[in-house]
Amino acid sequence: MLKIAFGSDHIGFGLKKEIMAYLTQKGYTCFDFGAHDENRTSYPIHARATCQAVVSGEYDLGILICGTGVGMSISANKIHGIRAVVCSEPYSAALSRQHNNTNVLAMGARVVGVELAKMIVDNWLAAQFEGGRHQERVEMITALENER
Ligand code: RB5
Repeated sequence: MLKIAFGSDHIGFGLKKEIMAYLTQKGYTCFDFGAHDENRTSYPIHARATCQAVVSGEYDLGILICGTGVGMSISANKIHGIRAVVCSEPYSAALSRQHNNTNVLAMGARVVGVELAKMIVDNWLAAQFEGGRHQERVEMITALENER
């Protein structure tokens, strides 16, 4: 079963805990890289810790939650080896895995409710990277990253 790293800021904390409980009950191994409470914090801190656990190979995938998912996804995409998507519906979540081989999903706790978030996560986890012509494009993304 996949190992999933989680991170949030204070706003995403509650939804993160709901999704962690949901996936743990489904048999996934989940670990929380903070925030650990609802005290004000800054999303890049927790995006960094969570994404480092993914790029190191310790965790297979990451899920990040802030108010909109935007700050988390921008921060995550600054980290070498991370392809993060921010989603508020399941279609893009699934396609982001099939075509873009995303390894981090970001969501906004002020944007999606708990049940929609579960649906997004289910679709993201169920989808498989299709490779083929998409492999070439993902390699082009890596080449862009290596220009930095
Ligand atoms: C925090 O106020 C808020 O900016 C953060 O949760 C997130 O929405 C940033 O993108």
